[in-house]
Amino acid sequence: MANYWNNKTVLITGASSGIGRGLALTIAKRGGRLGLIARREEVLDEIVSEIRAANGTAIAIGADVRDENALKQAAGRIRAELGPIDVLIANAGIGVTDHAAQLVPEKVAEVMNVNVLGAVNSVAAVLPQMVERGSGQLVAIASLAGYRGLAKSAAYCASKAALSVFFESLRIDLRHTGVTVSIIYPGFIKTPLTSGRQAKMPYLMELDDGVNKIVSAIEKGKKSYAFPWQLATVVRAGLVMPASLYDWIAERNSFRE
Ligand SMILES: NC(=O)c1ccc[n+]([C@@H]2O[C@H](COP(=O)([O-])OP(=O)(O)OC[C@H]3O[C@@H](n4cnc5c(N)ncnc54)[C@H](OP(=O)(O)O)[C@@H]3O)[C@@H](O)[C@H]2O)c1
Repeated sequence: MANYWNNKTVLITGASSGIGRGLALTIAKRGGRLGLIARREEVLDEIVSEIRAANGTAIAIGADVRDENALKQAAGRIRAELGPIDVLIANAGIGVTDHAAQLVPEKVAEVMNVNVLGAVNSVAAVLPQMVERGSGQLVAIASLAGYRGLAKSAAYCASKAALSVFFESLRIDLRHTGVTVSIIYPGFIKTPLTSGRQAKMPYLMELDDGVNKIVSAIEKGKKSYAFPWQLATVVRAGLVMPASLYDWIAERNSFRE
């Protein structure tokens, strides 16, 4: 569906690295105009140069998703320079390894602020205009880690559960407005987020494969898309397991060292 992105303006948060960077390069190649947001503006500038060198259209804006006003200003600049925002991909996110015995509330708050409230700020910066125009697409990059709690991942799992349920509620509220919502639940993808880990990550995907699956799900307007299917099936089975069985399995399958 190469034509899907033609004449569309796309805002991606967390575009300086990993999945966000991959989405930016792929969507630019398919004709989308990109507004790229992350804190490291100098890294975004390099991605913009790469996109422009291939005759694509992109602008870089250094902003922290935790800053509601900065996001509003960034969205305003993207609208002014590239046109109304058609697609938001709320992708910026961080992960921490946190065993319950070493719980630090500030670290949990940090994860929630970026992964959940950062996405809320991103939505707030684009949604009023989408509703007014009667068209738009909100995309959340959630995670299979948000289905149930995992070992040493309380903050991350909770943040992804909150993010996906937040977007699910939006999807219901926005029915009949012309604004659609797609929630993406990736498994493990090779990016700087996962690169430092020694623990085994089942069905770990190459970045390009993961990015292509996400782009295709957005193009198809999927309401919900969990992948790879093998891991998604295991995770869905976990949803119906009694707690004692789930805990036994989850303890033996820690994805963080
Ligand atoms: N990799 C996986 O296996 C996997 C699986 C499931 C879901 N995900 C999700 O996919 C998303 C992208 O992850 P990734 O693997 O591509 O990680 P990554 O390579 O570490 O990229 C994270 C991106 O988020 C940005 N970011 C972090 N804090 C930010 C803040 N406060 N304000 C603005 N931008 C911020 C970073 O840019 P700056 O540092 O320049 O700000 C970076 O561009 C995350 O939401 C992650 O939870 C990843």
